[in-house]
Amino acid sequence: MPSIVSSPVDRLAGACRVPGDKSISHRALILGALAVGETRISGLLEGDDVMRTAAAVRAYGATVARTGADGWRVLGRGVGGLAEPGDVLDLGNSGTGVRLLMGLAAGHPFTSVFTGDASLRRRPMARVTQPLTAMGARVVGHSGDRLPLALTGSADLVPLVYRTPVPSAQVKSAILLAALQAPGETTVIEAQPTRDHTERLLRQFGATVATVATSDGQAVTLVGQPELSPSAVVVPGDPSSAAFVAVAAAITPGSDVLIQGIGVNPRRAALFDVLTAMGAHLTLTPVAGHAHGEPIADLRIRGGELEGVDVPPERAPDMIDEYPVLAVAAAFAAGTTRMHGVAELRVKESDRLGTMARGLAACGVVVEEGRDSLTVHGRGRPQGGARIDADLDHRIAMSFLVMGLRARAPVAVAGADTIATSFPGFVDLMNRLGAGMSDAPA
Ligand code: S3P
Repeated sequence: MPSIVSSPVDRLAGACRVPGDKSISHRALILGALAVGETRISGLLEGDDVMRTAAAVRAYGATVARTGADGWRVLGRGVGGLAEPGDVLDLGNSGTGVRLLMGLAAGHPFTSVFTGDASLRRRPMARVTQPLTAMGARVVGHSGDRLPLALTGSADLVPLVYRTPVPSAQVKSAILLAALQAPGETTVIEAQPTRDHTERLLRQFGATVATVATSDGQAVTLVGQPELSPSAVVVPGDPSSAAFVAVAAAITPGSDVLIQGIGVNPRRAALFDVLTAMGAHLTLTPVAGHAHGEPIADLRIRGGELEGVDVPPERAPDMIDEYPVLAVAAAFAAGTTRMHGVAELRVKESDRLGTMARGLAACGVVVEEGRDSLTVHGRGRPQGGARIDADLDHRIAMSFLVMGLRARAPVAVAGADTIATSFPGFVDLMNRLGAGMSDAPA
């Protein structure tokens, strides 16, 4: 299992760009496959998760090709026009890929069989299969709702009004993708709004999607059976990838790092507010010309002292992927950081409350793991000196490599190859900024 060791350094400096947004990249490929004609995508994330979605939409009959250093082309077959895949679709580590594709598959009258790696096979799928079943799909899964899972779709789906039981953009998006094939209006009501990339892209491709505030929460309504028109999609840098670079700079005094062109959709960017509340020196400068309505900015971070904060549950959907690296920032802050209402972290690529609590403790940090909370007591520079198992979780791997940059002793991460799912080139990018990350003996 490839391991990387991250050794303490004095400062990070320089300018960089992080790879394209993972959430938007999956959606651009899927909507490209559902449009009639040619969609061009620039800035697509070429990480393993997104390449699995590209392979899957090819298996459904769309043409997907890389056209140059930064460009991809998708020739779509139209809503309802996809073909039955000839083999099992293996989505690797990607929860977003498999859940969104289940939505796409639900509106097609054939059987799709999905599987994934050991991490994805342990993740719950009922949150998606229940509403899709209510719309008319049939699903048989391992142990009920786990992968491998077979889904037989229907060309006659029924529209739905659905209140999501957990705040999840994947659930909302799967329903909206299925609803493209249902006559009339389908509405998803979210008590807590989640990232809205699907809605923005659907509008860009010509669908009618309305978002209104109601007493139950935010209601997103899609008018079914549109013809989707191909579009040019510009994928901004992934704020969830930028988060690792930002925290690395923030905990390393004397650092000065510029991350150019990242997406700062308010449903994604709450970590930057929390870091600012902790005393980090962050400046976001908007970049002119939004990519399909997604706001973009350059982020400058200078290193300094941090203080602990309380992060309330309402924050969670807007920074759900950032808690592992926030916990690392908290370990370097003076005082206690309490993260509340984060039970969803237990069903990510790993049980992130458990993996973070164990890894931080191994690095000498005092930490309390609650059922749906994590409390980190910052008491000066952590000891480090641990070897952490990434547990097939890219964000756990990157978080502990960030920890190693500034702990007293190096931190090694086993299974660091999982980083390629979302952030290919992470180690090289960090080393160009001054980090000390290298291959470790297995
Ligand atoms: C994603 C939604 C979130 C997030 C994941 C990407 C998306 O998952 O954790 O990394 O692209 O819709 P949930 O929908 O499970 O919250």
